[in-house]
Amino acid sequence: MSAQSPTSRVTVNSLRALKASAQPIVMLTAYDFPSAYLAEAAGVDCVLVGDSLGMTVLGHSSTLPVTMDDMVRATAAVSRATERVLVVADMPFLSYQVSIEDAVRNAGRLMAEGGAHAVKLEGADDDRIMTVEALVAAGIPVMAHVGLTPQSVNVLGGYRTQATDADSAAELMRSCVELERAGAFAIVLECIPAEIAERASGLVSIPTIGIGAGAGCDGQVQVFTDILGLGTFTPRHAKRYADVGEQIAAAIGAYAAEVRDRSFPGEGALTHVSNDVVARAEIVYGEMDLDDDEEFE
Ligand code: KIV
Repeated sequence: MSAQSPTSRVTVNSLRALKASAQPIVMLTAYDFPSAYLAEAAGVDCVLVGDSLGMTVLGHSSTLPVTMDDMVRATAAVSRATERVLVVADMPFLSYQVSIEDAVRNAGRLMAEGGAHAVKLEGADDDRIMTVEALVAAGIPVMAHVGLTPQSVNVLGGYRTQATDADSAAELMRSCVELERAGAFAIVLECIPAEIAERASGLVSIPTIGIGAGAGCDGQVQVFTDILGLGTFTPRHAKRYADVGEQIAAAIGAYAAEVRDRSFPGEGALTHVSNDVVARAEIVYGEMDLDDDEEFE
């Protein structure tokens, strides 16, 4: 069952209501018109325009090179493709870490130019808590993101599971409570032990959305290319539900073969004119002055 009827928009309140009624929230990333259109048609509640687009569609080796312009363009395409889901846009690296003013201005761009309904940002240190408060005060709903925060991959020393010892697990649980107090409407829990994710989810009344964090979260998020087999590898926390990549490669191969044996384009893809038009075109062509060289000297 999805969050709302097909015609009404999923809101931050409807996500909270899903948690209250113990119905899992379904979130999927999308990066362009077709992926967003398909995600909505399949009935997801929430589309995340993730900065994972840096790796999944732009070919970078991390999310760090993703720019505000990349995110605004992708978010606008996703917004144009959808009318029911909640569209959450990721704030890219350095769009919110330098100052609160930057954060409000950049989040505002994602909403005003991109059409996002909410933004997501990573971390829960004191500066980030203040940023969340400022964004919410400016009328911008914030989805928080703790655990493995890919924009801090160089500080974390790699894409590793987080909160694996008692101190860091307790710190993560405290972060969730502080993020709720700061006004976040949901929290992504990425790559943390299932036991900790379940406990953190029980500590807050806002929904937690897990990725690599177990079924005890209030919802799940997956990356579009991971679940469809469109990437070069499938991370451990992902499940491949289809091998669309193989189907696409086979279809492109079939197209290439038909071009090479001239069976494409066939009659269905052609237009014709009468022999009379062809004959007259040849006469007109023959009368044309084709010696343009002098004009360009
Ligand atoms: O960018 C992204 O796709 C994300 C999800 C993995 C949560 O942040």
